[in-house]
Amino acid sequence: MRVGLLTGGGDCPGLNAVIRAVVRKGEMVYGDELLGFLEGWRGVIHDNTTPLNVERCRGILPMGGTILFSSRTNPYKIEGGVQGAVSTLEKEGIDALIAIGGEDTLGVAHKLAAEGINLVGVPKTIDNDLSETEVTFGFHTAVQIATDAIDRLHSTAQSHDRVIVCEVMGRHAGWIATYAGIAGGAAEILVPEEPFDIDVVCEHLKARHAKGRYASIVVVAEGAVPKEGTLSLLSGEIDQFGHTRLGGIGAMLATEIEGRTGYETRATVLGHIQRGGTPTAFDRVLATRFGIAAIDAVHDGAFDHMVALQADQIVRVPLGDAVTVLKTVDPSLLHMADVFFG
Ligand code: F6P
Repeated sequence: MRVGLLTGGGDCPGLNAVIRAVVRKGEMVYGDELLGFLEGWRGVIHDNTTPLNVERCRGILPMGGTILFSSRTNPYKIEGGVQGAVSTLEKEGIDALIAIGGEDTLGVAHKLAAEGINLVGVPKTIDNDLSETEVTFGFHTAVQIATDAIDRLHSTAQSHDRVIVCEVMGRHAGWIATYAGIAGGAAEILVPEEPFDIDVVCEHLKARHAKGRYASIVVVAEGAVPKEGTLSLLSGEIDQFGHTRLGGIGAMLATEIEGRTGYETRATVLGHIQRGGTPTAFDRVLATRFGIAAIDAVHDGAFDHMVALQADQIVRVPLGDAVTVLKTVDPSLLHMADVFFG
């Protein structure tokens, strides 16, 4: 078969491990020809490709980023985008396409499947907010990076008896904030799932600091919002999938906390550091399992499906089920950490 591959949306550690696994099994076991489309859906619309083979994929397993590059291009938001994509795939003689991405990239894949394209999805996002899979690759690495950063922030916060607000990624779901906050011993974790009350946050910090010289780390997801009418937020640019560019909640919180408590407060935004660099061993293994399962799905004709992790087994789920509802943090996990606040 002639199989296409693309990586779309924000990059994440483990993308190259998926590509390597697909290519390895595709070429060596199934005798496939593999073709990479560059920069996500943009490469499919404009027929921008690169040949992929086992030789090309040597040494890429531990590499961050994606050798296929990525973009947030949405064919459904570009005039002639869908037609362009369909005719490229015909022209290139692509029998099946493997799309590696999050809800946006896979949402497009699901729609294109309805146009008759043979598509298989692989769940990727550091945000871990895709449904039907217990975890997406890239999340584990992002949590480790954020936890290491929180550990470092602790030591400097302690030296100066400061509050440090650490802003992590997660626009609709607070998975990174919750995991890194628990792992890093945060004094407060704020996530998009539960609007926060600044008065309660400050009360918790005062209760901690009243016990003596006590540094505090507040972990906030970039998409966390204050309870309605309590504080106002800045709004940013909107992308082709309708998402606002976030960032700014950390600095805003630091100012509010310092003003309301009198404690010296600083803000650190981890930003794209969380998406860069080498994947953890866990993500390398998960990405490899997903890649192998994706090429198997292609050969079983399991199109319009996504490979997923459920109860430590790789399964296939309908793409439509994976992209309809975002997977948000279970409140019981969030509230388990309440005992450490205040
Ligand atoms: O890919 C997901 C993500 O990292 C989000 O956590 C974040 O909000 C967004 O991408 C940032 O996007 P960009 O890299 O386009 O600024």
